[in-house]
Amino acid sequence: MTSHVRAPNLHATVLDGKELRDTFREDVLHGLSLPHKSIPPKHLYDARGSKLFDAITGLNEYYPTRTERNILDSHAESIAGALGPGATLIEPGAGSCEKAQALLATLEQPRSYVPIEISLTALEAGSHRIAERFPHVEVHPICTDFTTELPLTSGGDNRVVFFPGSTVSNFNRKEREGLLKRLSDLAQPGGQLLIGFDLAKDRSVLLDAYNDSAGVTAAFNLNLLRRINAELGGDFDLSMFRHDAVWNDEHSRIEMHLVSEAPQGVRVEDQMFEFAHHERLHTENSHKFTTASFDIEAGLAGFSRRQLWTDPQDWFAVALYRAD
Ligand code: AVI
Repeated sequence: MTSHVRAPNLHATVLDGKELRDTFREDVLHGLSLPHKSIPPKHLYDARGSKLFDAITGLNEYYPTRTERNILDSHAESIAGALGPGATLIEPGAGSCEKAQALLATLEQPRSYVPIEISLTALEAGSHRIAERFPHVEVHPICTDFTTELPLTSGGDNRVVFFPGSTVSNFNRKEREGLLKRLSDLAQPGGQLLIGFDLAKDRSVLLDAYNDSAGVTAAFNLNLLRRINAELGGDFDLSMFRHDAVWNDEHSRIEMHLVSEAPQGVRVEDQMFEFAHHERLHTENSHKFTTASFDIEAGLAGFSRRQLWTDPQDWFAVALYRAD
């Protein structure tokens, strides 16, 4: 199924979201059967979860979004200069294309923009806005789940893959290895990767960012159970689970868990799952890097670093790599 839009530079047809393989059901049933229960973090983002995440990004304690935005704004000229003229900007997980909109405004004669996004609603609205604001930029939206498939679009002499927001931090080491290789295939030899990643820092800053005082992160985490109830006929009692975010030093990451407040049985579809008192359901990892550790991982995927921009506190990094 396709959706046709009017802006003359918005050529692409957009795949209907229903054609995407829905892994929610199987990931939940599998994840709840594991000895250490866990569900992949991508399932936190239904419509309500996405709204709650947006609210998180505006919280005082949650520094990553505004810190990255400040880096991109204050170094806009130097970033645009490094990316060069006539860029084809490709953005996996583009959401509503807001970060790209700011970047495109600073680039010298960008040629095209390829947002890749699972949410058809966000993609349609975002790509339409870009096509209207930048009539000389060809916009080719692709609706798909970039974590399972990354379409190898062709074309463009100056290909720039844009992967902001420290989205990379929510993948485990092995998953990052595959993801960075796919990003390097997408950039193609000689192409570039502009990526944002969160840096290791004082533990109390990190813990506050994921245990905010208004309880928005808790609501975001617990929303996963609400989603299971709504979409898979689950009977989770949300008041019997609490949000917990902890620092894992060995893996240099914040982990989000939902902790069972009592021994309890939960039904999802026709299956029963037992939770012991204090048993944890692991819902997200958010890795924190050093620039050196990230360079090594990027290097294994065939990237070499060209430039790095950080904030005055060295809390967040925006790096530019070249695909070999
Ligand atoms: C999307 N991602 C980079 C966020 C993070 O910080 O890991 C998701 C998030 N989870 C809780 N707060 C924000």
